Amino acid sequence: MSESVEKYHTVARVDEIHEGEGKPFEVEGRLIAVFLDEGVYYAIDDTCPHQGAPLCDGIVANKTVTCTWHGWCFRLTDGRWVDNPRVLVGTYPVRVVGDEVQVGIV
Ligand code: FES
Repeated sequence: MSESVEKYHTVARVDEIHEGEGKPFEVEGRLIAVFLDEGVYYAIDDTCPHQGAPLCDGIVANKTVTCTWHGWCFRLTDGRWVDNPRVLVGTYPVRVVGDEVQVGIV
C-alpha cells in the first residue's frame, strides 16, 4: 500500500503575500489562491464554484474569503462554503521554508 505524499512548490517570498489578501498562482496546472490571514497562510482553489470568479480577489476575514462577484463565503481552513458545507473548493497545505511560501500538491 502506498501513501500519497504531497510535493511542495515555492510560489512566493513571504513579503509578496500581504496580510488580509490573496494572490493567484499556477501550480502544476492548477489555479491556486494563497492567502495570509492573521499571520497564517492558506491555499485553496482559486476558482469560485458558483460562476468562476477568482477567489484570490475576495475579501479575507476570520479565516474566510468572500467572493467579490456574488458574496459566497468559503472557509480558508477546509474550503467549505459557509452557507452549505457540502459545496467546497480544494485546499492545499502551505509551509514556509526560510523566506519561501510553499504549497503542497499530491
Ligand atoms: S462567482 Fe463567486 S459567488 Fe458567484
